[in-house]
Amino acid sequence: MIELHDVEKYYGKNAVLKGVDLEVAKGEFVAVAGSSGSGKSTLLNLIGGMDRPEKGRIVVQGAEISSYPDEKLTLYRKRGIGFVFQFFNLLPNITVFENVRIPLLLNGVGETERVSLFLARIGLEGKESRYPHELSGGEQQRVAIARALVHDPAIILADEPTGSLDSRTGEAIMGLMKQLIREEAKTIVLVTHEEYVSRHADRTVRIKDGVIAA
Ligand SMILES: Nc1ncnc2c1ncn2[C@@H]1O[C@H](COP(=O)(O)OP(=O)(O)OP(=O)(O)O)[C@@H](O)[C@H]1O
Ligand SMILES: [Mg+2]
Repeated sequence: MIELHDVEKYYGKNAVLKGVDLEVAKGEFVAVAGSSGSGKSTLLNLIGGMDRPEKGRIVVQGAEISSYPDEKLTLYRKRGIGFVFQFFNLLPNITVFENVRIPLLLNGVGETERVSLFLARIGLEGKESRYPHELSGGEQQRVAIARALVHDPAIILADEPTGSLDSRTGEAIMGLMKQLIREEAKTIVLVTHEEYVSRHADRTVRIKDGVIAA
């Protein structure tokens, strides 16, 4: 599903990833661990088509995205990826409903049936007209999860999704996320440094000194 072959990423002269090899199977849930600054977010950004490697190949569903021209890469990101972030990244001035709807609009889908469907599945029916600041952190992350899934992307990328939640709320979020990605047969790569989170994954890989440590 996702393959990285000898991927290198530099910021200026600073090598962050120095030859990363990684394969993620369809439907697999892989956790990525590693110390602060080790390149975890950089790795997610490369898989999500938000950035390109200086060297190596990234192949997703048989297509080499690392050699896509900009427009094609943007399309891949919009259509194929759902993102979940540590600080939720909801737009503050629009409602919960409109936040979840964004990926559909970006993909030219006018139909809103799936917005209601996912709001129900995350247990936020009745709160669709609220603004993000009128929700708890856990509820905001639920909204972000619905937003990540609404356009039916093949891959979910999550960067410290429980990092700003207490562990009880984080555990609930992980339960919900796992249930939804299983039901929807998604492939997920999730960055975390919390053991209670990586326990949910099929396997955990560690980035150390710019490579995936065994
Ligand atoms: N846009 C950028 N320009 C320059 N350097 C960057 C940029 N983004 C990241 N870096 C550097 O690359 C390294 C890896 O950053 P990255 O954000 O991938 O780490 P991380 O493993 O996600 O860390 P954390 O656990 O703190 O989130 C760091 O040394 C960081 O300072
Ligand atoms: Mg990071």
